[in-house]
Amino acid sequence: MSGEKKLQLGVLVSGRGSNLQAIIDASQAAKIDALVAIVISDVADARALELARRHGIDATFVDPRLHTTSEEFDRTVIDLLRKREVDLVCLAGFMRLLSPHFIREYRHNIMNIHPALLPAFPGLHAQRQALRYGVKVSGCTVHFVDEGVDTGPIIMQAVVPVLDDDTDESLSARILTYEHQIYPQAIQLFAEGRLEIRDRRVVCHGTDTPQQYEKYTWRAINPS
Ligand code: GAR
Repeated sequence: MSGEKKLQLGVLVSGRGSNLQAIIDASQAAKIDALVAIVISDVADARALELARRHGIDATFVDPRLHTTSEEFDRTVIDLLRKREVDLVCLAGFMRLLSPHFIREYRHNIMNIHPALLPAFPGLHAQRQALRYGVKVSGCTVHFVDEGVDTGPIIMQAVVPVLDDDTDESLSARILTYEHQIYPQAIQLFAEGRLEIRDRRVVCHGTDTPQQYEKYTWRAINPS
């Protein structure tokens, strides 16, 4: 950890907030050089807001019904993020599509976590899509956000097996464990300035990355 100013995170949420919790935990344990500066939700009673407040983090509900367009909603969110001098926007179970205006304002500074191995199963209910399709492995993806639905450059992925007797719930739970690990890791790579986007590819500078990927894929398939 350096003495430099920590990366300021703005986390956008719509629900439970377990990924938010993982990010807060990593921050408090000094595993990431980043602080959650603000949490914003489009759902008034999102558990994630309550969770943020318990940690003394500014937690704000922005009401979509008070905005006529998605861009107008996003402008309100952007104002809040700017006031907090947010460097990186993290979508953590945020169930709205960002407007092109938002993407332009924070291009290459927005991350999302998705519960599937993109580009497979983008959009809603990714775990159910994977089960129905019959894949033998699935997992999760942290990626930069672009104008598409879950189409941005991929930063990190973790693989988990899909078992014959899996349900939506059991597969989601197995994937979630890895979401909580790779999201803080991806944030830390960003904080260290190690991520470079070359067209669609994210190159990670530094030496330990291949081993890191190996560790995650291997451990997921062969849990010790
Ligand atoms: C997570 O599984 C996340 O990957 C998913 O929503 C869940 C939020 O859980 N996101 C998406 O499906 C986005 N397309 P959480 O609120 O407990 O972090």
